[in-house]
Amino acid sequence: LAAGIAAALSSSAMAADMTVGFSQIGSESGWRAAETSVTKQQAETRGINLKFADAQQKQENQIKAIRGFIAQGVDAILVAPVVATGWDDVLTEAKDAKIPVVLLDRGIDGPEDLYLTSVASDQVKEGAVAGGWLVETVKDKPCKVVELQGTVGSTPAINRKKGFEQAIAGHSNITIIRSQTGDFTRSKGKEVMEGFLKAENGGKDICAVYAHNDDMAVGAIQAIKDAGLKPGKDILVVSIDGVPDIFAAMVAGEANATVELTPNMAGPAFDALAAFKKDGTVPPKFIITESKLYTPADDPKGEYERRKGLGY
Ligand code: AHR
Repeated sequence: LAAGIAAALSSSAMAADMTVGFSQIGSESGWRAAETSVTKQQAETRGINLKFADAQQKQENQIKAIRGFIAQGVDAILVAPVVATGWDDVLTEAKDAKIPVVLLDRGIDGPEDLYLTSVASDQVKEGAVAGGWLVETVKDKPCKVVELQGTVGSTPAINRKKGFEQAIAGHSNITIIRSQTGDFTRSKGKEVMEGFLKAENGGKDICAVYAHNDDMAVGAIQAIKDAGLKPGKDILVVSIDGVPDIFAAMVAGEANATVELTPNMAGPAFDALAAFKKDGTVPPKFIITESKLYTPADDPKGEYERRKGLGY
C-alpha cells in the first residue's frame, strides 16, 4: 500500500495544496467539539483544503462520507471511527483508490494496511491512570465504584474499562458495583448516574464515579448534587479528557481527577501526511499522544483559562 500511495502522492495533485476529507463522529462532547475546531485551525494554518463531514454519531454516515471523499478524489482522508468494527470494505475502497487514511483518536478492528497511521492516545493507559489515582487516593478504605462507559463498541470505551480494571486488580477494597454506557454525553451521563444513585441507597453506598469522559462526569456531578450529596467529597469523581468544564468543577471542589486527552490529533496527522507526500516517508503505525493526570493540585483555574484560550 505504502509504495502505491507514495507514487500517487508524488503526483502534482499533492504538490502544494492538499485536499483532505475529515469524517468526524459528531459533537457528543466538549472534547469532540475541541478536536473539530483544532483540526479546522490546523488545516487553515497549513493551507490545507479541509472537507468536513459530521456523521451525527452514525457509522453509516461516516461510511457514506468516506465514499463521497473517494469519489471526489481527495488527497487523504481523516476518520475518527465511532465504533471499532465494520470498516474493512470502505477502507479497502480508499486503499484501492490509493488515498491514504489516517485514523484519529479511536482505533478499528481491522487489518493495519487499511490505514497509513493512527493518531490516538493509549486508551488502556488512560483507564489505568484513572484507576491508579483512585487506588492511591482511597488506599485501604473500602470503595464501591460506579462506571459510566463511553459509546458501546468504541475503542475508548473498551480500552478505558480494561485499563481501569487492570489498575484496581489486586485491590480487593475497590469494586465496580455498576457499569453502564452514558454514550460519552453529558445528558446520558446524568441520566445513568441518577439510576445508579437510586439503586444504591440514594448514593450513600457509592464511593466514586469513574466516567470514560469528562462530559459524562459533569452530568454525574449534577445528578449527585440533585440527590443532595456533595460530588468530589461524598462521591469522588474521576474521568478522562481535560476539558475546561472539568477544571471548573475542580475549582468548585466537585471533581477530583482527570486524564488529559489532547484535541490536537490533526497536527501529527497532517505532519505525517506531509512527509509521506514529500518523499514517501512512512510514519509509525501508531502515533501515541500523552495521558497526563490532573488533580486540583495542578492549578485548575489556570488550566481552565489556558484551554479556553486555545478555543475549547
Ligand atoms: O475518542 C475520544 C473520546 O470521544 C473522548 O474522550 C470523548 O469525549 C469523545 O466523545
